Amino acid sequence: MKELSTEKKRAPRNKTITLTEEEKFFYIKELIKLSGQTTPTQIENKTINQDLFEVLEFLPKGFVDLLFVDPPYNITKNFNGNTFKEMPSSEYAEWIESWITKLIPTLKKTASIYICGDWKSSGAIQQVVEKHFKVRNRITWEREKGRGAKKNWKNNTEDIWFCTVSDDFVFNVEAVKLKKKIIALYTNETGEPKDWEKTEEGDFRLTYPSNIWTDISIPFWSMPENTDHPTQKPEKLLAKIILASSNKGDFVFDPFLGVGTTAVVAKKLGRKFAGVEIDEAYACLAQKRLHEAEKEKAIQGYYDGVFWERNSTKDQKETKRLVERATMMKKTRLSLKSTITSKNIFLL
Ligand SMILES: C[S@@+](CC[C@H](N)C(=O)[O-])C[C@H]1O[C@@H](n2cnc3c(N)ncnc32)[C@H](O)[C@@H]1O
Repeated sequence: MKELSTEKKRAPRNKTITLTEEEKFFYIKELIKLSGQTTPTQIENKTINQDLFEVLEFLPKGFVDLLFVDPPYNITKNFNGNTFKEMPSSEYAEWIESWITKLIPTLKKTASIYICGDWKSSGAIQQVVEKHFKVRNRITWEREKGRGAKKNWKNNTEDIWFCTVSDDFVFNVEAVKLKKKIIALYTNETGEPKDWEKTEEGDFRLTYPSNIWTDISIPFWSMPENTDHPTQKPEKLLAKIILASSNKGDFVFDPFLGVGTTAVVAKKLGRKFAGVEIDEAYACLAQKRLHEAEKEKAIQGYYDGVFWERNSTKDQKETKRLVERATMMKKTRLSLKSTITSKNIFLL
């Protein structure tokens, strides 16, 4: 098994999830390998530790409600020793075609498909998805990290192609509203807030999400979801996709699972899940995160049923305090009511 460095010197507040030798030994036993045709129940909530090309023919048919694909992009990148090499765009399109066509039979007629890429991979992705699916949108994620380039514009965005199999698909727009702090406090003629709400926590507007996502940071060392995977997706990004394009109990599948972000968020949000990851260490990290998700259901940046802007921790804390206070007050009222009721019974 390849090592994911646990030896690095890290700052005291560094929350990066790593694996000890004992943990690896424990989690390896939970990984599965496919060697024949499977049913959805056999792979449900499992991490398949194999080359995707070895398992494609063994996957169940018509089981996927939501397919999230975050493949290696068309750039040279080292995934814990396995290097994906940049290739001409036409070859990259052929490579996508080679697995996407085999994933199509796994999809339900009502399924949604999301495929990620950077600007270099996006053209090839569009070319392939247009052949097979109904392309609904291209989301641009401003990921706000990465080195500045001296002779080019800093590469600061990723694309996420949103497709469906048919015109019959789930889209829960109310579940993915964004809570924005209001700067310009416009009011109507009677002085009432226009499109925003004055609350005890501050002045906010709840907006419907657009196809540009500027509220999501790449996981970094002080975030509890962070690992050493070079291209780990943020839980908040997966939460938007899973909440919008699936319902509780639906099956979410990820053929390039990495360290398990899709599986972890699906689990936190009450969906079934499965994924394939070629690298054993990454697959073990996914298992470790899945165990942690049993205790910790929070998704950073998603609180109280809404998505919050970047750098809004203070506002989220204030809302949490008010929600907790309201819950306490409700409990106290209920217990008072039951005391009074039992006294009344006594008096009768
Ligand atoms: C872009 S990363 C996915 C990261 C993931 N979304 C996460 O948040 O952790 C792509 C992953 O695909 C894996 N991979 C590459 N080729 C593969 C193959 N043929 N079969 C299965 N996994 C593969 C790599 O090891 C890498 O972890």
